[in-house]
Amino acid sequence: MSTTDYSAPDEREQWGSRVGLILAMAGNAVGLGNFLRFPNEAVNNGQGAFMVAYFISLLLLGIPLMWMEWGIGRRGGHFGYSTAPGMFQSLTKARIAKYIGALGVVMPLLIVIYYVYIESWTLGYAVESATGALGAVTDKASQVSTGDYFETYLGSQGNDSGFLGVAGWIGSHKAYTFFAITAAVNLWVLSRGLSKGIEIIAKIGMPVLLVCAIALVARVLTLPAEEGRSALDGLNIYWNPEQWTALYDDAQAKSLFGIGSAAIWLAAAGQIFFTLSVGSGAINTYSSYLSRDDDIALTGLATVSMNEFCEVVLGGTLAIPAAFLFFGMSGVEEAASGSMGLAFITMPEVFANAGVFGIAAGEYSVAILGTVWFGLLFVAGITSSLALSQPTMAFMQDTMGLTRKKAALVVGGIILLFVQPVILLDGVLGEIDYWAGTFGLVFFSTMEVVLFMWIFGSKRAWKEIHHGADIAIPKIFKFLMTFVTPVLLIGMLAFWGITQALPILSFEKTTGGDIIDPNDPAHMALVDNAGLARWMMLALFAFFVVLVWIAAKRGRFKSLENLAEDA
Ligand code: TRP
Ligand code: TRP
Repeated sequence: MSTTDYSAPDEREQWGSRVGLILAMAGNAVGLGNFLRFPNEAVNNGQGAFMVAYFISLLLLGIPLMWMEWGIGRRGGHFGYSTAPGMFQSLTKARIAKYIGALGVVMPLLIVIYYVYIESWTLGYAVESATGALGAVTDKASQVSTGDYFETYLGSQGNDSGFLGVAGWIGSHKAYTFFAITAAVNLWVLSRGLSKGIEIIAKIGMPVLLVCAIALVARVLTLPAEEGRSALDGLNIYWNPEQWTALYDDAQAKSLFGIGSAAIWLAAAGQIFFTLSVGSGAINTYSSYLSRDDDIALTGLATVSMNEFCEVVLGGTLAIPAAFLFFGMSGVEEAASGSMGLAFITMPEVFANAGVFGIAAGEYSVAILGTVWFGLLFVAGITSSLALSQPTMAFMQDTMGLTRKKAALVVGGIILLFVQPVILLDGVLGEIDYWAGTFGLVFFSTMEVVLFMWIFGSKRAWKEIHHGADIAIPKIFKFLMTFVTPVLLIGMLAFWGITQALPILSFEKTTGGDIIDPNDPAHMALVDNAGLARWMMLALFAFFVVLVWIAAKRGRFKSLENLAEDA
């Protein structure tokens, strides 16, 4: 370590308390991914085999990356940087590091654009549950199915039929209205700052989330059996380790699940990245608000444990077992075939079949259980969308010198602009989710591991993580982090490069894996939208690279470059 004093400027924000920090970190990780994405991915990608690959990925990729990102983040904060450009530059003298670091701002921002949109559906559905509107749809006499209702909800930004008055306009523009409310709440919290905004929301939100989730789990598990099926039987869908041979037996994987072994591994690893929030720069930013001597070994592990409890135990016991109880295995598979159907279409039907507190199954049970379920999703969502926005907030403040209010306006402006194609055009959401929320996480993690464990050096990295630690991490993790994690990540990228890169980049295949027929106009419309999404992402990345360059011209990274040189 150098002797020069590079200590942080005084005005840097800090977490108010250790409890607040832990809840904020847990809020970052626990999100829609735990309750929506996880059950869907597990059912579609190998079920029992998926779970085996999932836990192996957790151990070999998730936990190591979590510790590394906490280490990189706390170190960056110590030098006065809350985002990856500065953090990466402090690890090496190679000047390109800060430009690669721009990804650590852009990726969370890209994710938050569609994430807030999905989050806004959960708010919309919570309100419609509470008002009874959703309950009316589930009524046997209703002309509209929950599926149609979801379609209409999503289509509701475009069907303006003349002058409707305020209430009418809102009714026909629900998707927009709830999006605007959700975005405004997010920006308001962000503009209040770390300890007065994010931390307070986490302190209220996480307990509320736990109570709602546990209450729903209790209801699902105590539902009487239907046609000989109980909710507990539904758990067998995930907890069937006998299927694990599909992880290497490609033929078995194909015959059981319709996908190859490699696809199971990739889906499981992808879920680990997404659910733990690793691989985007969002964790690094939250860690940068720790002080130098704060523990990260134990606290990082605590965050992982809380997330896994909320995912595997709570998230796993809600949607799938409940859908299984009422609709059987074919119902579960049908519900999980689209990415949102389980949560927004099937769950309301589950609630219409489940009584609660002596209230018979029907409209009222939908109102009660639906409000709790969608409210839970909304709380899970907002604590994550705040985390995804914070890197841009921090970058605008500490690297570009904007005030917090101005930074919030920039974040809001970008989200409002870029969400338009996400709302209006088919396929844009999926394309951004693929590049920023899936592939990008692997790519960025690879950069981080190589930089931290290989270039900065595993010995110093290990020491960095252990500074101030309340526990000693088992030595085996040093080996995993130095060799196994990076080799697996590079292997995943290489595999992607060989099997996926060309067909996907040249639009022979969609990012969802379907073959594109150039003679089908419907396919080509989707290709146009996906192409637009790619340009949008590139433009946003270019924008941040230019900002990093401007900051560098202003000498903002000077002390870091010197630091890396004398280190
Ligand atoms: N982990 C969150 C979830 O499960 C989402 C999230 C927050 C995220 N920050 C992230 C995903 C960073 C990827 C990268 O819903
Ligand atoms: N790639 C995911 C899928 O198709 C998209 C997704 C599903 C998602 N559920 C989500 C993204 C929840 C964010 C949050 O399954």
